[in-house]
Amino acid sequence: MNKTIFITGASSGLGKATAKLFQSKGWNVIATMRNIENESELSQLENVTLLPLDVTDLENIKSTAQKAIELGVDVVFNNAGYGLIGPLEGLSDEQIIKQFNTNLLGVLRVTKEFIPYFREKKAGMFVTTTSIGGLIAFPMGSTYHATKWALEGWSESLAFELNAFGIDVKTVSPGGIKTDFMSRSIDTGSNSAYDELFGVMLQNSMNMLENSSEPIQIAEVVYEAVTDGKKQLRYVAGADARALYAQRLEQGDEKFRTWMGQEFLGR
Ligand SMILES: NC(=O)c1ccc[n+]([C@@H]2O[C@H](COP(=O)([O-])OP(=O)(O)OC[C@H]3O[C@@H](n4cnc5c(N)ncnc54)[C@H](OP(=O)(O)O)[C@@H]3O)[C@@H](O)[C@H]2O)c1
Repeated sequence: MNKTIFITGASSGLGKATAKLFQSKGWNVIATMRNIENESELSQLENVTLLPLDVTDLENIKSTAQKAIELGVDVVFNNAGYGLIGPLEGLSDEQIIKQFNTNLLGVLRVTKEFIPYFREKKAGMFVTTTSIGGLIAFPMGSTYHATKWALEGWSESLAFELNAFGIDVKTVSPGGIKTDFMSRSIDTGSNSAYDELFGVMLQNSMNMLENSSEPIQIAEVVYEAVTDGKKQLRYVAGADARALYAQRLEQGDEKFRTWMGQEFLGR
């Protein structure tokens, strides 16, 4: 029987590319998104079921997870998320809470709904989209990094308790992806004291974006993580992310931090 993947944030970008890739490989796909009525592409595909899901709404998580479990699920792909950038002083409490509710608590709550089901059937897998920003930090993204570093540590720990029940836990940590992320999925905050620093950082970030991956390239890494049969936890995805992570490991934390400051802030 075909296997089934449950995907959050499947309306665009990496989530949608992953939905299309798994469907093309013969999988059943439960593609979840906030507004299923706006989806005209995935709804045309065979073996794709659309379900509504806002990962910040616990009741919605519970009811949609229940419907998915009735259909049968083998893999949960926690992917919904967005970026919050700007100096901490420039962010409102609402912005910070929304970032944590979406990127971090959304993942924990969705995962928790599926654990008893996977535990009872002694099989299942959770894959979470983190970011290269979950393994290194760029300037002016402290709150986004807090959520993505948290997901890396959370996954590393969770794997120990769930592997014991035959459940796999993996992360996919992409570098830049050419999606809506840098346009509609970025929230920002500013504070005039940091304007100059922020401006320098943005200017120096432009080169990085040129080395971004296409969504399908990262979706292929998600497919590899799901199907390679390995116990590997972490999949750093995209040439840019792999190069940065290799540099971090080679230089060590402090040398890497010095390089990052000089590269992005000129100091
Ligand atoms: N693009 C990059 O450079 C990059 C790099 C590293 C990591 N990532 C990560 O990759 C993941 C996917 O982002 P993307 O690049 O594919 O950007 P994207 O095209 O903007 O997709 C973001 C997805 O998250 C969904 N989403 C946001 N808030 C949600 C909520 N409360 N409930 C349910 N869905 C929600 C969006 O849904 P709506 O359509 O309803 O807004 C959309 O489907 C994110 O976790 C992001 O942090 C991206």
